[in-house]
Amino acid sequence: MLELSDAARVGTMTARMLILGQTLTFANDPFKVPVAEAAVHEPRGGVLVEDGMIAAIGLGDDLLHAHPDATVTDMGSRLLTAGFVDSHAHYPQTAIIASWGMRLVDWLNTYTFPEEARFGDADYARETAGRYLDLTLMNGTTTICSYCTIHPESVEALFVEARKRGLRAVAGKTCMDRNAPDDLRDTVQSSHDDSKRLLERWHGVDRLGYAITPRFSPTSTPEQLEALGALWAEHPECLMQTHISEQTDEVEWALSLHPEARDYLETYEMHGLLGEGALYGHAVHLTERERARIADAGASVVHCPTSNTFIGSGLLDLAGLAACDVRIALATDTGGGSSFSMLRTMAAAYEIAQLRGGALHPAQLYWLATSGSARAMRLDDKIGRLAPGLEADLIALDLASTPAIAQRASRAEDIWEALFPTIMMGDDRAIAQVWIAGRAMR
Ligand code: GUN
Ligand code: ZN
Repeated sequence: MLELSDAARVGTMTARMLILGQTLTFANDPFKVPVAEAAVHEPRGGVLVEDGMIAAIGLGDDLLHAHPDATVTDMGSRLLTAGFVDSHAHYPQTAIIASWGMRLVDWLNTYTFPEEARFGDADYARETAGRYLDLTLMNGTTTICSYCTIHPESVEALFVEARKRGLRAVAGKTCMDRNAPDDLRDTVQSSHDDSKRLLERWHGVDRLGYAITPRFSPTSTPEQLEALGALWAEHPECLMQTHISEQTDEVEWALSLHPEARDYLETYEMHGLLGEGALYGHAVHLTERERARIADAGASVVHCPTSNTFIGSGLLDLAGLAACDVRIALATDTGGGSSFSMLRTMAAAYEIAQLRGGALHPAQLYWLATSGSARAMRLDDKIGRLAPGLEADLIALDLASTPAIAQRASRAEDIWEALFPTIMMGDDRAIAQVWIAGRAMR
């Protein structure tokens, strides 16, 4: 008896960890309520982690006294937050990130499609998926939502590598049955059957989820969109991800290929591809009707600011979307986006908002990169905040990670002034630690 209870107690002790540092989380959406009501900052806070979950957050000293048995990790003045959630990425484009000189359609044909054609090779897909996930983890991204290629092997590769690392990840087979090279086209039937098989195999396994993934309406026939819409209706537990209204000539092209639709959104809507759980990447050139329908449906726009500047797509009207109550998420769009870092992505979102005449508050930027993206992915009851009952995917930010950042932050009078230089100038050097389900990665 004694031995048994001792063993049980030791088991509990080793599973309980108290991380101390500054803490920052959100009790509400800073686009809807004042920042002071939305954000919760503790200069000396703590996060109690038990069996991979957040058991409590609060004042560091209070938690220390209440849990004398916990293993303590003291991160000093570093800022503990939820890990970043990158809600739109293309892991197969890892090796072609920062390819020079093209706009969307030429960029796809010149750089993207030849690289994606390699992912029928399972070994190449596994190697790239592992490299991509290591790069995102280095940058403090603990959850991703990725496109794969048309090859089922590319989906298997990402899920296997994410599972190996214990990550929460969402991905899907990219579907294209026209306007792509021969070796990158599927068919209505194969895209439906492969997607169905993959989602039945992977959705809900460990921390993995499936997103039904028509690439965008120019590369799908109406019949393919219809088949994928029907599949989503059978599996509403999955997400649906695609691209919309990224560049003006792409919008014209999409409409010429779908003359039955009034606008780009309708090319999806008329085939059952609009609803809660739909993630529309870019959405730079939406009409009023499209905005209102996306808001009504509870679908999400995914802002990809480094991509929108890099490929020359345009300046998203984020304030206008927020005012219409559209759900907004933030993402790198690797490798159309020029960075793996959600810090760099927040900086680009800030700059685009400035070019449109309004400054985003650091709390709004940070919320988009964590809670906003988690909500769009319907994972806000699992990740994206520091709160009891959520999974312990955490990061510790060094707010003085370079001399330039340190000298600016040293003048800060509150947490937002302390954090903003890291948002604007920080990179992977600012990521002092990453925990995946409570497990330290370094
Ligand atoms: N539109 C369709 N496919 C893509 C892609 O891979 N990247 C971007 N940025 N836009 C797209
Ligand atoms: Zn994309």
